[in-house]
Amino acid sequence: MSTPKLAIKNLTKKYFLSNSQTVTALNNFNLKVFPGEFVSIIGPSGCGKTTLLNIIAGVEKETSGEISLDGNIENSRRGKFGYMFQESLLLPWRTVEENLILELDIKKIPREKSLKKARQLLKKFHLEKFAKEHPSTLSGGMKQKVSLLRTILFNDSFLLLDEPFGALDQITRHGLQIWLKKTLKKFNTTTLFITHDISEAKLLSDRIIQLKNN
Ligand SMILES: Nc1ncnc2c1ncn2[C@@H]1O[C@H](COP(=O)(O)OP(=O)(O)O)[C@@H](O)[C@H]1O
Ligand SMILES: [Mg+2]
Repeated sequence: MSTPKLAIKNLTKKYFLSNSQTVTALNNFNLKVFPGEFVSIIGPSGCGKTTLLNIIAGVEKETSGEISLDGNIENSRRGKFGYMFQESLLLPWRTVEENLILELDIKKIPREKSLKKARQLLKKFHLEKFAKEHPSTLSGGMKQKVSLLRTILFNDSFLLLDEPFGALDQITRHGLQIWLKKTLKKFNTTTLFITHDISEAKLLSDRIIQLKNN
């Protein structure tokens, strides 16, 4: 068997609240994700799904446990994943192509180089006509496509997607699910996908993990 791209061992996250209460968001969680796999995590609201992605991406610190990437324990994981947040924000004053290069700007990659990459990506998905539009002119589904392409532009090898279609109506959502499936075939991507929709998980995934409330 190949080395997991991501291995999570006994991951626990506790939040210590100001009223001296403790919330256990994750309790001894284990998971392995292999190269090229699409793994979905489903579970009710509040069971720790977002917390899990935040910890994997290095945005939050675990209370205990171990996370390995390609077989090695890795404690500095920031920037090693394409992470699409649950509330993915497009900046209203930036055009679609400028939104696509947001993270590249933060990494101080030269503008012309990033814009070229952004335009190539839009072209690949037949979305080049939206390049100069501002987010306010886009449909909800289009906004999510742009957010997803922004994530892919930053890192197309490992995606962490937190309920990317959660706020969309059923028909738009289904269209985006099919689009995502096709999109990921164009890249050799490993994906960890969060949803609370079992039919979405079944449609997209190689494997589904159920996360329970603690
Ligand atoms: N920054 C925080 N401080 C305190 N409690 C938090 C914080 N973030 C999340 N929690 C709590 O941790 C639990 C898991 O939250 P979350 O990971 O957002 O769940 P999900 O994404 O599955 O809805 C919830 O009980 C939530 O209230
Ligand atoms: Mg969440």
